[in-house]
Amino acid sequence: MPATILIGAQWGDEGKGRVADWLAAEADVVGRFAGGDNAGHTVVVGSSVVKLHLVPSGILHPHVTCVLGNGMVINPVNLLKEMDGLAAQGVDISPERLILSTKAHLITPAHIALDTASEKSRGDQAIGTTLRGIGPAYMDKTGRQGIRAGQMMSIEDFADALYSAIEQANKTLVQQGSQPLDAKQVTVEYLDAAARLQPYLRDTTVYLNDRLKAGARILCEGAQGTLLDIDHGDYPFVTSSSPTAGGALTGLGFGPRYVDKVLGVAKCFSTRVGSGPMPTELEGELAERLRGTGEHFWDEFGTTTGRPRRCGWLDAVVLRYAVAVNGFTELVLTKLDVLSGLPELKIAVAYMIDGVRYEYPPSTIAELGRAEPIYETFPGWSKDISSARRNSDLPDAACSYIQRIAELCDIPVHTVSVGPEREQLVYF
Ligand code: GDP
Ligand code: IMO
Ligand code: MG
Repeated sequence: MPATILIGAQWGDEGKGRVADWLAAEADVVGRFAGGDNAGHTVVVGSSVVKLHLVPSGILHPHVTCVLGNGMVINPVNLLKEMDGLAAQGVDISPERLILSTKAHLITPAHIALDTASEKSRGDQAIGTTLRGIGPAYMDKTGRQGIRAGQMMSIEDFADALYSAIEQANKTLVQQGSQPLDAKQVTVEYLDAAARLQPYLRDTTVYLNDRLKAGARILCEGAQGTLLDIDHGDYPFVTSSSPTAGGALTGLGFGPRYVDKVLGVAKCFSTRVGSGPMPTELEGELAERLRGTGEHFWDEFGTTTGRPRRCGWLDAVVLRYAVAVNGFTELVLTKLDVLSGLPELKIAVAYMIDGVRYEYPPSTIAELGRAEPIYETFPGWSKDISSARRNSDLPDAACSYIQRIAELCDIPVHTVSVGPEREQLVYF
């Protein structure tokens, strides 16, 4: 630090929340910079499993101040539900600990209805969104007609803005054959939420720059993942924000001079939830083995939507690309323990597309759809590694697997997690 940026290197759900929770111990401020409650970050503290969607994982460390940055889209009702849930678990969520950017955009009930209508109208080309209204909220932001969190400071003006946004959206909903919203009914909760959130609003750009100048250490907690980035991901099967390293700076409002680490978080295999290409996707028994049955909270079912995640072998083509796009200085790998017991493991080291070898993903999803992974095969290990704390505690086969990932990505692997709990980490 002063500023560390933490980014998902794959398609989201890499374990960013647990890594952010670990790094937050050394931070003064933890900020989210992109996305909204499409994110689901799971953190385990003692016997509690905490699922966060909007509030940064740093909230579980009493010394940390948390920032919801200008790059985010916030559903104020869901934010309050999450805050109330945290307060019920004894977490201090006072305005001294949690700050909401006046420049963040708000997700309205109209955005949620439009997200659902748009997914329906795409039929078998649906993105598989989380239906949280994320895309339509960012569309209004870039269309310069969004509602910013700062507008909640005047309830009257906020009510007017909300009503006209819903009336406007109703025209589109009706055109698309969907039911219009009852503006009065759907906004009541929003107006109550606005009143409660007023003390949390602040110019977070000024706040963060003042803290950085005074020497504070800031952790930028990424959401989603590199392959879901609006520019760098598998467009159009992406989210509508910039969850990559550049997005951290625009989404929080400070300059690159403060950044000294860019950490990539990658799962030791691949998962994806929602539609879009995934060259190393597996079917059948192996996929089920990686996914788990759902009996453990860490099994591969979406934290936000409960959907089963698609599972496959680790894809080094994707990781190499994520290293390039984000300028990672090091990698943290998660869920190595899940691979224990598999007789052999594979890593895609390149793709073959129409007879040509690719070290990086091709730029169109049509080509990506034809990609044949070129695999290297590794021996597995049978030992339970969940109590490993040093690399000497790991079987040789596990060390070789990690070593090969570092070589293929050409950056060091910093830490590997072997279970969801705080101390289940192996430092390299
Ligand atoms: P995020 O969105 O990137 O924060 O990831 P999620 O929280 O959606 O999904 C990761 C899941 O894996 C969570 O349930 C974590 O508790 C769990 N997890 C993280 N690291 C490990 C690990 O090393 N081993 C196991 N078994 N689970 C882990
Ligand atoms: P975290 O932070 C995994 C995916 C959705 C869909 C696409 C677009 O927990 O890693 P959206 O609702 O954003 O318009 O959906 O992006 N997606 C995620 N997948 N983890 C996430 O967040 C995701 N956030 C969005 O499944 O494919
Ligand atoms: Mg998640």
